Amino acid sequence: MDVLVIGSGAREHALAWRLARDESVRRVRIAPGNGGTAAVAESVDDLDIGDPYAVARHAARERYGLVVVGPETPLAAGVADALELARVPVFGPTRAAARLESSKAFAKQQMQRAGVPTASSATFTDPDAALDHARRAATEERALVVKADWLAAGKGVVVGESPDETEAAIRDLFAGVAPGARLLLEERLTGVEVSVFALVSGEVVVPLAAACDYKRLGDGDTGPNTGGMGAYAPVPWFDQARIESSVESIFEPIAWRMARDETPYRGVLYAGVILTPQGPMVLEFNARFGDPEAQVILPLLDGDLATALLGVAGGDRGMIEGSLGPRDGACVGVVVAAEGYPDAPVTGRELDGADPSSPADDGWLLCFHAGTRRAPDGGYRSSGGRVLTFVGRGASLSDARDAAYEGVAGCRLEGGQHRADVAARELEVDRLPDDAAASVLHGSDRTQLGDEPG
Ligand code: AMP
Ligand code: GLY
Repeated sequence: MDVLVIGSGAREHALAWRLARDESVRRVRIAPGNGGTAAVAESVDDLDIGDPYAVARHAARERYGLVVVGPETPLAAGVADALELARVPVFGPTRAAARLESSKAFAKQQMQRAGVPTASSATFTDPDAALDHARRAATEERALVVKADWLAAGKGVVVGESPDETEAAIRDLFAGVAPGARLLLEERLTGVEVSVFALVSGEVVVPLAAACDYKRLGDGDTGPNTGGMGAYAPVPWFDQARIESSVESIFEPIAWRMARDETPYRGVLYAGVILTPQGPMVLEFNARFGDPEAQVILPLLDGDLATALLGVAGGDRGMIEGSLGPRDGACVGVVVAAEGYPDAPVTGRELDGADPSSPADDGWLLCFHAGTRRAPDGGYRSSGGRVLTFVGRGASLSDARDAAYEGVAGCRLEGGQHRADVAARELEVDRLPDDAAASVLHGSDRTQLGDEPG
Protein backbone atom coordinates (compact mmCIF):
# COMPACT_ATOMS: atom_id res chain seq x y z
CA MET A 1 0.00 0.00 0.00
CA ASP A 2 0.95 3.66 -0.29
CA VAL A 3 1.03 5.53 3.02
CA LEU A 4 0.87 9.24 3.76
CA VAL A 5 2.44 10.55 6.96
CA ILE A 6 1.32 13.97 8.16
CA GLY A 7 3.74 16.15 10.12
CA SER A 8 7.24 17.60 10.03
CA GLY A 9 9.09 16.58 13.19
CA ALA A 10 11.57 13.88 14.14
CA ARG A 11 8.57 11.83 15.28
CA GLU A 12 7.23 11.88 11.72
CA HIS A 13 10.67 11.09 10.26
CA ALA A 14 10.77 8.06 12.58
CA LEU A 15 7.22 7.02 11.63
CA ALA A 16 7.98 7.31 7.91
CA TRP A 17 11.28 5.47 8.38
CA ARG A 18 9.57 2.60 10.22
CA LEU A 19 6.67 2.39 7.77
CA ALA A 20 9.05 2.39 4.80
CA ARG A 21 10.65 -0.75 6.27
CA ASP A 22 7.31 -2.61 6.27
CA GLU A 23 6.69 -5.36 3.76
CA SER A 24 3.13 -4.20 3.18
CA VAL A 25 4.25 -0.69 2.23
CA ARG A 26 5.17 0.16 -1.36
CA ARG A 27 5.73 3.86 -0.95
CA VAL A 28 5.65 6.45 1.83
CA ARG A 29 4.87 10.10 1.24
CA ILE A 30 5.01 12.84 3.83
CA ALA A 31 3.30 16.22 4.18
CA PRO A 32 5.11 18.50 4.70
CA GLY A 33 8.15 16.59 6.05
CA ASN A 34 11.49 18.30 6.63
CA GLY A 35 15.01 18.49 5.23
CA GLY A 36 15.80 14.92 6.24
CA THR A 37 12.61 13.09 5.38
CA ALA A 38 13.52 12.89 1.69
CA ALA A 39 15.66 9.91 2.82
CA VAL A 40 12.50 7.94 3.63
CA ALA A 41 9.58 9.53 1.83
CA GLU A 42 8.73 11.75 -1.07
CA SER A 43 7.24 14.96 0.25
CA VAL A 44 3.89 16.33 -0.81
CA ASP A 45 4.24 20.00 -1.59
CA ASP A 46 1.54 22.57 -1.11
CA LEU A 47 -0.83 20.56 1.05
CA ASP A 48 -2.33 22.52 3.94
CA ILE A 49 -2.36 19.85 6.65
CA GLY A 50 -4.56 22.06 8.83
CA ASP A 51 -7.34 21.95 6.21
CA PRO A 52 -9.23 18.66 6.66
CA TYR A 53 -10.95 18.77 3.28
CA ALA A 54 -7.76 19.56 1.40
CA VAL A 55 -6.12 16.57 3.08
CA ALA A 56 -9.10 14.30 2.32
CA ARG A 57 -9.25 15.39 -1.34
CA HIS A 58 -5.54 14.77 -1.78
CA ALA A 59 -5.69 11.39 -0.01
CA ALA A 60 -8.67 10.15 -2.03
CA ARG A 61 -7.07 11.25 -5.29
CA GLU A 62 -3.78 9.51 -4.44
CA ARG A 63 -5.60 6.37 -3.20
CA TYR A 64 -3.48 5.96 -0.09
CA GLY A 65 -4.05 2.70 1.73
CA LEU A 66 -3.41 4.50 5.02
CA VAL A 67 -2.90 8.02 6.35
CA VAL A 68 -0.94 8.36 9.61
CA VAL A 69 -1.38 11.66 11.43
CA GLY A 70 1.60 12.57 13.63
CA PRO A 71 0.80 15.84 15.45
CA GLU A 72 -2.22 16.92 17.42
CA THR A 73 -3.16 20.12 15.59
CA PRO A 74 -4.50 18.46 12.41
CA LEU A 75 -6.43 15.97 14.59
CA ALA A 76 -8.04 18.79 16.59
CA ALA A 77 -8.90 20.45 13.26
CA GLY A 78 -10.81 17.33 12.13
CA VAL A 79 -8.42 15.80 9.59
CA ALA A 80 -9.35 12.25 10.68
CA ASP A 81 -13.08 13.06 10.41
CA ALA A 82 -12.65 14.28 6.82
CA LEU A 83 -10.56 11.24 5.87
CA GLU A 84 -13.19 8.90 7.35
CA LEU A 85 -15.88 10.65 5.32
CA ALA A 86 -13.73 10.19 2.22
CA ARG A 87 -13.34 6.49 3.15
CA VAL A 88 -9.57 6.71 3.42
CA PRO A 89 -8.23 4.54 6.28
CA VAL A 90 -6.77 6.91 8.85
CA PHE A 91 -4.63 6.31 11.93
CA GLY A 92 -5.59 9.08 14.35
CA PRO A 93 -8.71 10.03 16.32
CA THR A 94 -11.59 12.20 15.21
CA ARG A 95 -11.83 15.75 16.44
CA ALA A 96 -14.33 14.72 19.12
CA ALA A 97 -12.09 11.90 20.39
CA ALA A 98 -8.97 14.08 20.21
CA ARG A 99 -10.58 16.28 22.87
CA LEU A 100 -8.93 13.90 25.33
CA GLU A 101 -5.85 15.98 24.49
CA SER A 102 -7.27 19.29 23.27
CA SER A 103 -9.48 19.90 26.33
CA LYS A 104 -8.06 19.20 29.75
CA ALA A 105 -11.50 19.74 31.31
CA PHE A 106 -13.03 17.13 29.01
CA ALA A 107 -10.18 14.69 29.71
CA LYS A 108 -10.63 15.15 33.45
CA GLN A 109 -14.38 14.63 33.22
CA GLN A 110 -13.95 11.45 31.17
CA MET A 111 -11.32 10.12 33.57
CA GLN A 112 -13.62 10.73 36.52
CA ARG A 113 -16.57 9.10 34.77
CA ALA A 114 -14.43 6.11 33.74
CA GLY A 115 -12.85 5.69 37.17
CA VAL A 116 -9.32 6.29 35.87
CA PRO A 117 -7.01 7.28 38.74
CA THR A 118 -6.13 10.98 38.40
CA ALA A 119 -5.55 14.04 40.56
CA SER A 120 -8.68 15.63 42.00
CA SER A 121 -9.53 18.94 40.40
CA ALA A 122 -12.09 21.69 40.04
CA THR A 123 -13.00 23.71 36.92
CA PHE A 124 -13.59 27.47 36.83
CA THR A 125 -14.71 30.08 34.32
CA ASP A 126 -14.72 32.90 36.88
CA PRO A 127 -11.29 34.22 37.95
CA ASP A 128 -12.57 35.30 41.38
CA ALA A 129 -14.06 31.90 42.11
CA ALA A 130 -10.78 30.27 41.07
CA LEU A 131 -8.77 32.61 43.32
CA ASP A 132 -11.16 31.93 46.16
CA HIS A 133 -10.74 28.19 45.74
CA ALA A 134 -6.97 28.53 45.54
CA ARG A 135 -6.86 30.56 48.75
CA ARG A 136 -8.79 27.85 50.54
CA ALA A 137 -7.12 24.82 48.96
CA ALA A 138 -3.49 25.78 48.39
CA THR A 139 -1.18 25.69 51.36
CA GLU A 140 2.60 25.66 51.58
CA GLU A 141 2.46 21.87 51.92
CA ARG A 142 -0.32 21.22 49.45
CA ALA A 143 0.37 23.10 46.25
CA LEU A 144 -2.02 23.28 43.31
CA VAL A 145 -1.44 22.90 39.60
CA VAL A 146 -3.10 25.45 37.33
CA LYS A 147 -4.13 24.21 33.88
CA ALA A 148 -5.63 26.26 31.07
CA ASP A 149 -8.32 24.41 29.14
CA TRP A 150 -7.50 26.36 25.98
CA LEU A 151 -4.54 25.89 23.65
CA ALA A 152 -1.88 27.92 25.41
CA ALA A 153 1.10 26.97 23.22
CA GLY A 154 2.76 24.81 25.86
CA LYS A 155 2.45 27.51 28.52
CA GLY A 156 -0.91 26.40 29.89
CA VAL A 157 0.28 24.37 32.88
CA VAL A 158 1.80 26.00 35.96
CA VAL A 159 2.92 23.79 38.81
CA GLY A 160 2.68 26.22 41.71
CA GLU A 161 5.51 26.06 44.22
CA SER A 162 3.64 28.32 46.67
CA PRO A 163 0.11 29.75 47.13
CA ASP A 164 1.37 33.09 45.76
CA GLU A 165 2.64 31.49 42.60
CA THR A 166 -0.65 29.69 42.13
CA GLU A 167 -2.65 32.90 42.47
CA ALA A 168 -0.33 34.73 40.08
CA ALA A 169 -0.73 31.92 37.53
CA ILE A 170 -4.52 32.10 37.77
CA ARG A 171 -4.47 35.87 37.15
CA ASP A 172 -1.96 35.63 34.29
CA LEU A 173 -3.75 32.83 32.48
CA PHE A 174 -7.21 34.38 32.78
CA ALA A 175 -5.87 37.81 31.73
CA GLY A 176 -5.03 36.63 28.24
CA VAL A 177 -8.23 34.85 27.31
CA ALA A 178 -11.86 35.55 26.37
CA PRO A 179 -14.61 35.21 29.01
CA GLY A 180 -16.03 31.72 29.33
CA ALA A 181 -12.69 29.95 29.01
CA ARG A 182 -12.15 27.20 31.56
CA LEU A 183 -9.30 26.80 34.01
CA LEU A 184 -8.56 23.71 36.09
CA LEU A 185 -7.11 23.75 39.58
CA GLU A 186 -5.67 20.38 40.36
CA GLU A 187 -4.12 18.67 43.34
CA ARG A 188 -0.34 18.48 42.94
CA LEU A 189 1.01 14.94 42.84
CA THR A 190 4.59 13.87 43.36
CA GLY A 191 6.38 10.96 41.82
CA VAL A 192 8.34 9.90 38.80
CA GLU A 193 6.70 10.32 35.38
CA VAL A 194 6.41 7.87 32.51
CA SER A 195 4.73 8.02 29.10
CA VAL A 196 2.62 4.94 28.34
CA PHE A 197 1.38 4.18 24.83
CA ALA A 198 -1.40 1.89 23.64
CA LEU A 199 -3.10 1.34 20.32
CA VAL A 200 -6.81 1.92 20.81
CA SER A 201 -9.65 1.19 18.41
CA GLY A 202 -13.07 1.56 19.96
CA GLU A 203 -13.00 -0.83 22.92
CA VAL A 204 -9.96 -2.71 21.61
CA VAL A 205 -6.76 -1.83 23.48
CA VAL A 206 -3.34 -3.23 22.60
CA PRO A 207 -0.42 -1.98 24.71
CA LEU A 208 2.64 -0.74 22.86
CA ALA A 209 5.37 0.48 25.18
CA ALA A 210 6.42 2.82 27.94
CA ALA A 211 9.12 5.49 27.63
CA CYS A 212 10.52 8.32 29.71
CA ASP A 213 11.03 11.77 28.30
CA TYR A 214 12.92 14.83 29.50
CA LYS A 215 10.86 18.00 29.30
CA ARG A 216 13.25 20.57 30.80
CA LEU A 217 15.97 22.14 28.71
CA GLY A 218 18.82 21.67 31.15
CA ASP A 219 20.62 18.78 32.81
CA GLY A 220 19.15 17.69 36.13
CA ASP A 221 15.69 18.91 35.04
CA THR A 222 16.54 22.59 35.19
CA GLY A 223 15.61 25.46 32.90
CA PRO A 224 12.47 26.07 30.86
CA ASN A 225 9.99 23.47 29.65
CA THR A 226 10.47 22.28 26.10
CA GLY A 227 8.74 19.97 23.65
CA GLY A 228 11.10 17.26 24.89
CA MET A 229 14.89 16.98 24.94
CA GLY A 230 15.37 13.23 25.07
CA ALA A 231 13.79 9.88 25.84
CA TYR A 232 14.55 6.26 26.50
CA ALA A 233 12.80 2.90 26.32
CA PRO A 234 12.19 0.42 27.77
CA VAL A 235 11.71 1.78 31.28
CA PRO A 236 13.25 -0.72 33.73
CA TRP A 237 10.86 0.18 36.57
CA PHE A 238 7.77 0.20 34.33
CA ASP A 239 7.95 -3.26 32.84
CA GLN A 240 5.51 -5.31 30.76
CA ALA A 241 3.50 -6.32 33.85
CA ARG A 242 2.99 -2.68 34.79
CA ILE A 243 2.08 -1.78 31.21
CA GLU A 244 -0.50 -4.60 31.21
CA SER A 245 -1.91 -3.41 34.51
CA SER A 246 -2.25 0.14 33.16
CA VAL A 247 -4.27 -1.31 30.28
CA GLU A 248 -6.79 -2.51 32.86
CA SER A 249 -6.78 0.54 35.10
CA ILE A 250 -6.38 3.32 32.52
CA PHE A 251 -6.75 2.44 28.85
CA GLU A 252 -9.67 0.03 28.83
CA PRO A 253 -11.92 2.15 31.05
CA ILE A 254 -11.29 5.33 29.05
CA ALA A 255 -11.69 3.52 25.71
CA TRP A 256 -14.98 2.05 26.92
CA ARG A 257 -16.19 5.47 28.10
CA MET A 258 -15.34 7.09 24.76
CA ALA A 259 -17.06 4.30 22.81
CA ARG A 260 -20.17 4.51 25.01
CA ASP A 261 -20.34 8.26 24.36
CA GLU A 262 -20.30 7.59 20.60
CA THR A 263 -16.91 9.20 20.23
CA PRO A 264 -14.85 6.02 19.88
CA TYR A 265 -11.11 6.60 20.03
CA ARG A 266 -8.98 5.27 17.18
CA GLY A 267 -5.25 5.83 17.17
CA VAL A 268 -2.42 5.79 19.63
CA LEU A 269 -3.37 6.98 23.09
CA TYR A 270 -0.54 8.42 25.16
CA ALA A 271 -1.09 8.55 28.90
CA GLY A 272 1.22 10.81 30.88
CA VAL A 273 1.42 8.80 34.09
CA ILE A 274 2.92 9.73 37.45
CA LEU A 275 3.83 6.98 39.91
CA THR A 276 2.61 8.09 43.31
CA PRO A 277 2.73 6.20 46.60
CA GLN A 278 -0.96 5.40 45.87
CA GLY A 279 -0.06 3.85 42.50
CA PRO A 280 -0.01 5.16 38.90
CA MET A 281 -2.21 8.20 38.19
CA VAL A 282 -2.88 9.97 34.88
CA LEU A 283 -1.67 13.56 34.49
CA GLU A 284 -2.81 13.97 30.92
CA PHE A 285 -3.80 12.17 27.75
CA ASN A 286 -2.37 12.93 24.34
CA ALA A 287 -3.99 11.84 21.11
CA ARG A 288 -0.74 11.01 19.33
CA PHE A 289 2.73 9.57 19.75
CA GLY A 290 5.07 11.55 21.99
CA ASP A 291 8.00 13.38 20.47
CA PRO A 292 10.77 12.27 21.24
CA GLU A 293 9.20 9.09 22.70
CA ALA A 294 8.20 7.82 19.23
CA GLN A 295 11.81 7.96 18.10
CA VAL A 296 12.84 5.45 20.81
CA ILE A 297 9.75 3.24 20.68
CA LEU A 298 9.45 2.64 16.95
CA PRO A 299 12.91 1.08 16.43
CA LEU A 300 12.01 -1.43 19.17
CA LEU A 301 8.98 -2.82 17.34
CA ASP A 302 9.16 -5.91 15.18
CA GLY A 303 6.67 -6.79 12.47
CA ASP A 304 4.55 -4.76 10.11
CA LEU A 305 3.60 -1.42 11.60
CA ALA A 306 1.40 -0.32 8.69
CA THR A 307 -0.77 -3.44 9.03
CA ALA A 308 -1.18 -2.83 12.76
CA LEU A 309 -2.16 0.80 12.19
CA LEU A 310 -4.58 -0.28 9.49
CA GLY A 311 -6.04 -2.68 12.05
CA VAL A 312 -6.57 0.30 14.37
CA ALA A 313 -8.31 2.23 11.59
CA GLY A 314 -10.62 -0.74 10.93
CA GLY A 315 -11.13 -1.94 14.51
CA ASP A 316 -9.51 -5.34 13.89
CA ARG A 317 -7.91 -6.67 17.07
CA GLY A 318 -6.40 -9.68 15.32
CA MET A 319 -4.64 -7.46 12.80
CA ILE A 320 -3.25 -5.21 15.51
CA GLU A 321 -2.03 -8.00 17.78
CA GLY A 322 -0.82 -10.25 15.01
CA SER A 323 1.32 -7.66 13.25
CA LEU A 324 3.60 -6.33 15.97
CA GLY A 325 5.98 -7.72 18.51
CA PRO A 326 8.71 -6.38 20.77
CA ARG A 327 12.34 -6.36 19.75
CA ASP A 328 15.15 -6.98 22.22
CA GLY A 329 17.35 -4.16 23.36
CA ALA A 330 16.95 -0.54 24.29
CA CYS A 331 16.91 2.88 22.67
CA VAL A 332 18.07 6.27 23.92
CA GLY A 333 17.15 9.42 22.02
CA VAL A 334 18.96 12.74 22.46
CA VAL A 335 17.53 15.89 20.91
CA VAL A 336 19.81 18.53 19.45
CA ALA A 337 18.08 21.91 19.65
CA ALA A 338 18.95 25.30 18.22
CA GLU A 339 20.67 28.10 20.09
CA GLY A 340 17.99 30.16 21.85
CA TYR A 341 15.49 27.27 22.01
CA PRO A 342 12.78 27.25 23.33
CA ASP A 343 12.18 31.02 23.50
CA ALA A 344 13.85 32.33 20.37
CA PRO A 345 15.54 29.61 18.32
CA VAL A 346 18.20 30.77 15.90
CA THR A 347 17.66 29.21 12.47
CA GLY A 348 19.58 29.06 9.21
CA ARG A 349 22.75 27.57 10.69
CA GLU A 350 24.85 24.97 8.92
CA LEU A 351 24.36 21.39 10.14
CA ASP A 352 26.98 18.70 9.69
CA GLY A 353 27.39 15.11 10.79
CA ALA A 354 23.67 14.47 10.73
CA ASP A 355 22.90 12.23 7.76
CA PRO A 356 19.18 11.44 7.99
CA SER A 357 18.35 7.76 8.42
CA SER A 358 16.97 5.95 5.40
CA PRO A 359 14.91 2.72 5.40
CA ALA A 360 18.13 0.73 4.89
CA ASP A 361 19.46 2.02 8.22
CA ASP A 362 18.75 -0.21 11.19
CA GLY A 363 21.98 -0.15 13.11
CA TRP A 364 23.18 1.20 16.43
CA LEU A 365 22.69 4.85 15.47
CA LEU A 366 19.73 6.53 13.83
CA CYS A 367 19.30 10.19 13.00
CA PHE A 368 15.82 11.65 12.69
CA HIS A 369 15.49 15.20 11.42
CA ALA A 370 13.04 17.84 12.70
CA GLY A 371 13.81 21.53 12.16
CA THR A 372 16.03 21.15 9.10
CA ARG A 373 15.92 22.07 5.45
CA ARG A 374 18.01 21.04 2.49
CA ALA A 375 20.31 23.76 1.21
CA PRO A 376 21.01 24.29 -2.50
CA ASP A 377 24.56 22.96 -1.93
CA GLY A 378 23.09 19.61 -0.83
CA GLY A 379 23.87 20.15 2.87
CA TYR A 380 21.44 20.81 5.68
CA ARG A 381 20.52 24.01 7.52
CA SER A 382 18.66 24.35 10.80
CA SER A 383 15.13 25.72 10.42
CA GLY A 384 13.44 25.17 13.78
CA GLY A 385 13.77 24.85 17.54
CA ARG A 386 14.34 21.13 17.89
CA VAL A 387 16.69 20.31 15.03
CA LEU A 388 17.05 16.52 15.24
CA THR A 389 17.04 13.44 17.44
CA PHE A 390 19.94 11.01 17.56
CA VAL A 391 18.73 7.57 18.58
CA GLY A 392 21.19 5.01 19.86
CA ARG A 393 20.18 1.37 19.99
CA GLY A 394 21.92 -1.36 21.91
CA ALA A 395 21.58 -4.53 23.92
CA SER A 396 21.31 -2.42 27.09
CA LEU A 397 20.35 1.16 27.94
CA SER A 398 24.00 1.80 28.63
CA ASP A 399 25.06 0.70 25.12
CA ALA A 400 22.18 2.62 23.58
CA ARG A 401 23.17 5.72 25.51
CA ASP A 402 26.79 5.51 24.38
CA ALA A 403 25.65 5.18 20.78
CA ALA A 404 23.31 8.17 20.96
CA TYR A 405 26.00 10.41 22.45
CA GLU A 406 28.47 9.26 19.80
CA GLY A 407 25.98 10.63 17.29
CA VAL A 408 25.72 13.91 19.20
CA ALA A 409 29.51 14.19 19.41
CA GLY A 410 29.81 13.85 15.65
CA CYS A 411 27.22 16.54 14.94
CA ARG A 412 28.17 20.13 14.28
CA LEU A 413 25.61 22.90 14.77
CA GLU A 414 26.81 26.28 16.00
CA GLY A 415 25.13 27.07 19.34
CA GLY A 416 23.40 23.68 19.38
CA GLN A 417 22.04 22.54 22.76
CA HIS A 418 21.48 19.06 24.14
CA ARG A 419 21.09 17.39 27.50
CA ALA A 420 24.01 15.31 28.68
CA ASP A 421 22.01 13.27 31.19
CA VAL A 422 19.45 11.40 29.10
CA ALA A 423 18.95 7.94 30.63
CA ALA A 424 21.80 8.61 33.09
CA ARG A 425 19.56 8.01 36.09
CA GLU A 426 18.78 4.51 34.83
CA LEU A 427 22.46 3.65 34.79
CA GLU A 428 22.75 4.82 38.39
CA VAL A 429 20.43 1.94 39.24
CA ASP A 430 23.19 -0.48 38.20
CA ARG A 431 25.36 0.97 40.92
CA LEU A 432 22.80 0.81 43.74
CA PRO A 433 23.21 -1.93 46.35
CA ASP A 434 21.62 -5.12 45.04
CA ASP A 435 18.45 -5.03 47.14
CA ALA A 436 17.64 -1.44 46.34
CA ALA A 437 18.36 -1.99 42.67
CA ALA A 438 16.10 -5.03 42.61
CA SER A 439 13.21 -3.18 44.18
CA VAL A 440 13.52 -0.28 41.77
CA LEU A 441 13.91 -2.50 38.74
CA HIS A 442 11.24 -5.02 39.61
CA GLY A 443 8.83 -2.69 41.34
CA SER A 444 8.57 -4.79 44.50
CA ASP A 445 8.29 -1.60 46.56
CA ARG A 446 5.67 0.76 45.30
CA THR A 447 6.52 3.54 47.71
CA GLN A 448 10.03 3.65 46.42
CA LEU A 449 8.67 4.33 42.94
CA GLY A 450 7.26 7.58 44.22
CA ASP A 451 10.80 8.91 44.38
CA GLU A 452 12.89 9.84 41.41
CA PRO A 453 15.25 6.92 40.84
CA GLY A 454 18.95 7.67 40.68
P1 AMP B 1 0.29 18.21 31.42
O1 AMP B 1 0.37 18.99 30.16
O2 AMP B 1 -1.06 18.18 32.04
O3 AMP B 1 0.93 16.85 31.34
O4 AMP B 1 1.29 18.96 32.42
C1 AMP B 1 2.63 19.18 32.07
C2 AMP B 1 3.55 18.77 33.19
O5 AMP B 1 3.15 19.42 34.41
C3 AMP B 1 3.49 17.28 33.52
O6 AMP B 1 4.33 16.53 32.71
C4 AMP B 1 3.91 17.27 34.96
O7 AMP B 1 5.32 17.34 35.08
C5 AMP B 1 3.32 18.55 35.50
N1 AMP B 1 2.01 18.27 36.12
C6 AMP B 1 0.79 18.29 35.52
N2 AMP B 1 -0.19 17.97 36.39
C7 AMP B 1 0.40 17.73 37.57
C8 AMP B 1 -0.07 17.36 38.87
N3 AMP B 1 -1.37 17.17 39.13
N4 AMP B 1 0.84 17.21 39.85
C9 AMP B 1 2.16 17.40 39.62
N5 AMP B 1 2.66 17.75 38.43
C10 AMP B 1 1.81 17.92 37.41
N1 GLY C 1 7.25 14.31 24.77
C1 GLY C 1 6.08 14.97 25.18
C2 GLY C 1 5.08 15.15 24.13
O1 GLY C 1 5.19 14.68 23.02
O2 GLY C 1 4.06 15.78 24.41
